[in-house]
Amino acid sequence: MSKKDTITLIDNSTGKEVELPILRPSNGIPTIDVRALYRKLGYFTYDPGFLSTASCSSAITYLDGIKGELQYAGYPIEQLADHSSFLEVCCLLFNGELPSNEELTEFKNIITHHTMLHEALKRFYSGFRRDSHPMAIMVGVVGGLSSFYHDDMDIHNPNDRMIAAHQLIAKMPTIAAWSYRYANGLPFEYPRNDLDYAANFLHMMFNKPSEAYIPDPFMVKALDLIFILHADHEQNASTSTVRLTGSSEANPFAAVSAGIASLWGPAHGGANEAVIRMLVDIVESDHDIQHYFDRAKDKNDRFRLMGFGHRIYKNYDPRARIIRKTCHEVLSKLGSNNKYQELFDTAMELERIALQDEYFVSRNLYPNVDFYSGIILLAMGIPLNMFTVIFAVARTVGWISHWNEMMQDPESRIGRPRQLYIGALPRDYPKNDK
Ligand code: CMC
Repeated sequence: MSKKDTITLIDNSTGKEVELPILRPSNGIPTIDVRALYRKLGYFTYDPGFLSTASCSSAITYLDGIKGELQYAGYPIEQLADHSSFLEVCCLLFNGELPSNEELTEFKNIITHHTMLHEALKRFYSGFRRDSHPMAIMVGVVGGLSSFYHDDMDIHNPNDRMIAAHQLIAKMPTIAAWSYRYANGLPFEYPRNDLDYAANFLHMMFNKPSEAYIPDPFMVKALDLIFILHADHEQNASTSTVRLTGSSEANPFAAVSAGIASLWGPAHGGANEAVIRMLVDIVESDHDIQHYFDRAKDKNDRFRLMGFGHRIYKNYDPRARIIRKTCHEVLSKLGSNNKYQELFDTAMELERIALQDEYFVSRNLYPNVDFYSGIILLAMGIPLNMFTVIFAVARTVGWISHWNEMMQDPESRIGRPRQLYIGALPRDYPKNDK
């Protein structure tokens, strides 16, 4: 290792020093390997929120937040959005390569034939309150899958891991659609093998025994695109949760259930729901946009402009750009008098003002993936509380691909961060002198 491949850290209080290796990624920011720090100098590093910490190495997704670029296994998201399909992207993320035509046909076949849920799982739903948030149901039911697939699964066997991935990708739309059916008092709709992935999801959401639902191919394509754009985003909070949960060798269905719980929060996947609530409020307040900007900038107010800002992107989120264009196309198809146009116009007006506002410009706050996606989902007839569920359906492949990668990584160990203890010093339990 040459001197230029290391960084030397000197402890000024003791004069001791340590040479730490600099790891060079295939693309992106060089990374200091601090593993020897505690052993050699007796220090931990402090980085709440992982602002400067790489928690693992990964070959799945690359994103450059400064340039606003996103690639799955090297393929730009724009090209995948234009030419690929969600199931092809699933193969790419899980295997690291695009499938051949035969491989893709076989994969589609496997997914199509694993969409059914064990009948006993149906009874889980009736334990939830009618008005449960569907994300609460998702956390419970996906966690419940671990009780069906535990004893006969060897997580150290690559084939068993692949089967778990197939089961999750295939069953997630069924679980998701059924959470909606349950909340609306509708009978559960079984999957149909003649429909593709996105069309089947819409069928299970909206088909009624009394009235057949015929998925609109245009909406099916838009939903497939939304699935592609949400499929993975490297070490975000929910993916890191799946990795951390799985690092103890927990059941992968339980690990994914933990990921769903993490995704639910409004700072993460819950933002798509929060964006629409905010846009509706703005429209109902007679477009008092300035009031929302004032609140977003006020440090004493917890309100944030939802769908804006990102930990990594300090530029326009490339997914938001694609979704904005699709949103425009979907609304044009519905005609100029569609009831979502006002929300879209309001969103574009917010974006226009934010991109000229000193507060947003100086902090590099741009629209993120959640800013426009909700308007498309509304136009499909999907209710607000299902938005994050759809994100979870799409992100499942990312979660399970990261879990699989971690299970193969010889450097991965149980995740166990250290802490900066700031509590009481040792003290004696008070004597009972009553
Ligand atoms: N509105 C107003 N101010 C904001 C916003 C916002 N949406 N986002 C960040 N800021 C400000 C923040 O107050 C801080 O200001 P200052 O430097 O004066 O203290 C500065 O920008 C940096 O923000 P941060 O909170 O330190 O950044 P972070 O990386 O910890 O948080 C974020 C990233 C996405 C949680 C945050 O931008 C946010 O809460 N955005 C709104 C929620 C949202 O849209 N989430 C979806 C994220 S993308 C999809 C996903 O991950 O699922």
